[in-house]
Amino acid sequence: MLSEAKNRQLTQVGPGTPMGELLRRYWHPIAAVSEFDKVDTKPVRLLGEDLVLYKDLGGNFGLIDRRCAHRRADLSYGFVEQSGLRCNYHGWLFDRDGRCTEQPYEDIAAPNARMKERLRIKAYPVEQKAGMLWAYLGPQPAPLVPNWEPFTWKNGFAQIVISEIPCNWLQCQENSIDPVHFEWMHSNWSIRLKGETGPYAPTHIKVDFEEFDYGIIYKRLREDTSERHPLWTVGRVCLWPQAFCLGDHIEWRIPIDDENTLSIAWAFSRVPKEQEPYEQGPIPAWHGPVVDPDTGRWISSHVMNQDFVAWVGQGTVADRTKENLASSDRGIAMLRKRFGEDMDAVADGRDPSGLIRDPAANECVELPIAGRHLFTEGLTREQLLAHPILGKHLADYPFQAGQPDEVKAAYREAMGLRDEDLQAH
Ligand code: FES
Ligand SMILES: [Fe+2]
Repeated sequence: MLSEAKNRQLTQVGPGTPMGELLRRYWHPIAAVSEFDKVDTKPVRLLGEDLVLYKDLGGNFGLIDRRCAHRRADLSYGFVEQSGLRCNYHGWLFDRDGRCTEQPYEDIAAPNARMKERLRIKAYPVEQKAGMLWAYLGPQPAPLVPNWEPFTWKNGFAQIVISEIPCNWLQCQENSIDPVHFEWMHSNWSIRLKGETGPYAPTHIKVDFEEFDYGIIYKRLREDTSERHPLWTVGRVCLWPQAFCLGDHIEWRIPIDDENTLSIAWAFSRVPKEQEPYEQGPIPAWHGPVVDPDTGRWISSHVMNQDFVAWVGQGTVADRTKENLASSDRGIAMLRKRFGEDMDAVADGRDPSGLIRDPAANECVELPIAGRHLFTEGLTREQLLAHPILGKHLADYPFQAGQPDEVKAAYREAMGLRDEDLQAH
């Protein structure tokens, strides 16, 4: 249970708030590069700030204030030039550093006025990594965009799934350090959703939590597994500060503002050995729906959709003055404590945990990954089809509802899978 003040401190993300300042020390994925095949601007709300992300005709990305410095028009309706984004109201042009480089009428009528030089709108750096666009809203010098180990894997088909979840980000991230929900929310609830009442999944008998450089690891022991099982020896990673790494996919919970979260998932499927060498072109991105249009209720058919049900169900901002943490929640207490220490570090002018500033260390940031060999070495088509978990993932994207047909077709082609292969298993 937390005090109301502590709950507010952990959940408010705007500029000047302790958590908002802490989160501004990290890079956040905010969109997919491939989204800009069809559009050249995208309105973005991040950490309570209204911005516009754009790709100019020179191919460079920028992230600047949503409002024009002239009379506040919406720059997400602007048009891109060779360098920068032009307001569609009176044509003022802004570059990716937020400088105004043209004021078409003023440049003729008052060429000697120095107004342009004085104007500067908000602008933040953007980088590309793993098919995603990452933003940094903090002070310079910025740390490096982490090159997490799965981003370096070869011979895989990656896809990016984006959804908006109408609740505060912290309750989403607390889900990343919650092993027991897996048994109930995913395994047993899925059994009930199929209309069956059992048998239920093996129950958890022990959980453990451990901090490391880039987050907190949880470990689980279930009644059907021994202490030699990778989910006990290696575990899963609550990745600092706003993600969850399960090896073949990483999920980020990015604060849009205090009451909304951007869910971004990056999922990697190693192609069968028969398909190697495989080099993917642009990484496809799609928007995962969260509401069932027929019933108006949250979609519950896929793993992450089930998580979304839990998150939004806790309230727009979970009221932690009314919770009762139990022994399964030790990881959540550790996570809140570490956020507290990191907020103090930032207030003292120190770096918080998990920042990477050394390019050599960032060549590949290794993480604890259960079953790593499945992704680094791969399997034959037969082994993959017969694999108890990966085999089940082949027919349908397992993590979220709504995968578009063209992404499914591209995935099947990359994997060299035909309907007959899937039906035979
Ligand atoms: S409001 Fe943008 S140029 Fe006038
Ligand atoms: Fe979950």
